[in-house]
Amino acid sequence: MFFRSAFLSTLMAAFASAEIEVDVLGQSGKIMIYDAALGKSDPDRVTMTMDYLYELDENDNVVGKAGSPLQKHSTETFANQQFSYSDIQEVVFSNLTADYLSFDADVYKAGTIKVETYIFKENGTITTSTNETLEVVEGDFKFAIQLIDWNWCNPCADGNATHIDVGVELKGKDDQPTEDDLGGGISVIMSELINIDGENVAMPDGYPKVVTKNGKTLFVFRFPKEVEGGAALYDYDPLITTGGPRAQEDRCGLFCRVCG
Ligand SMILES: *[C@@H]1O[C@H](CO)[C@@H](O)[C@H](O)[C@H]1NC(C)=O
Ligand SMILES: *[C@@H]1O[C@H](CO)[C@@H](O)[C@H](O)[C@H]1NC(C)=O
Ligand SMILES: *[C@@H]1O[C@H](CO)[C@@H](O)[C@H](O)[C@H]1NC(C)=O
Ligand SMILES: *[C@@H]1O[C@H](CO)[C@@H](O)[C@H](O)[C@H]1NC(C)=O
Repeated sequence: MFFRSAFLSTLMAAFASAEIEVDVLGQSGKIMIYDAALGKSDPDRVTMTMDYLYELDENDNVVGKAGSPLQKHSTETFANQQFSYSDIQEVVFSNLTADYLSFDADVYKAGTIKVETYIFKENGTITTSTNETLEVVEGDFKFAIQLIDWNWCNPCADGNATHIDVGVELKGKDDQPTEDDLGGGISVIMSELINIDGENVAMPDGYPKVVTKNGKTLFVFRFPKEVEGGAALYDYDPLITTGGPRAQEDRCGLFCRVCG
């Protein structure tokens, strides 16, 4: 009986639209998103790994990189940072039911980086923190990166910060993923807008961008300081399509909302 019902529910999951699950891997800001019916060996799984955070001066030199942990503001890896994770909860986001997971870490004493993730369980339209609207399909994965109560280098021993770069690895099955396809037709839809204490601010020219570093493909998000003394909240809100891609070709990739 047990085997039969387990088999049946697996079959039903496979035939119903994909049920997407998210799992935490370790404590350093790494999660995996996959089709529950296929498990973690899902060939179309996506992993998201927090890679680095740099405070930069106006000439793009890293600042806050030296000294004691009390003096540091930049980290070239999150492997040495400790994230705490929320439980996975069902929430309503923009009128749509979604599974929610968040994780955050203090970067030394500089501030808190928080990642909020949602897996949508319904089709519909969402409104992001920058008031952009976006069609989502059940199974789509959205994340937001927030910098909270940040104490910018002003100055640190090596200079004053004017912006922060956050590098995030998004890996699908392609060895060389692009924003249009992380592998398996999974694409990333990026906004150029950041919500900074309630105001929409454009990311500096050329950002978000995709770079290759040590053989990894990273998405780099640039947060301008913008507000004298720093804002309380910087909130950036992209979306990864996982629900439709196996079937659909009408989904668009990076910047598609911006370029039409
Ligand atoms: C939620 O749905 C209600 C009723 O349909 C609508 O008035 C409201 O604008 C929706 N809110 C969002 C955030 O889409
Ligand atoms: C959601 O949209 C997808 C793609 O358009 C479709 O295949 C699916 O049936 C829709 N699900 C519901 C519950 O309407
Ligand atoms: C988004 O729209 C709401 C309602 O119109 C408004 O109150 C809010 O200030 C807007 N947010 C941004 C970042 O423009
Ligand atoms: C950094 O900012 C401080 C005060 O805001 C200023 O006195 C100093 O000259 C700045 N340093 C550099 C390298 O720009």
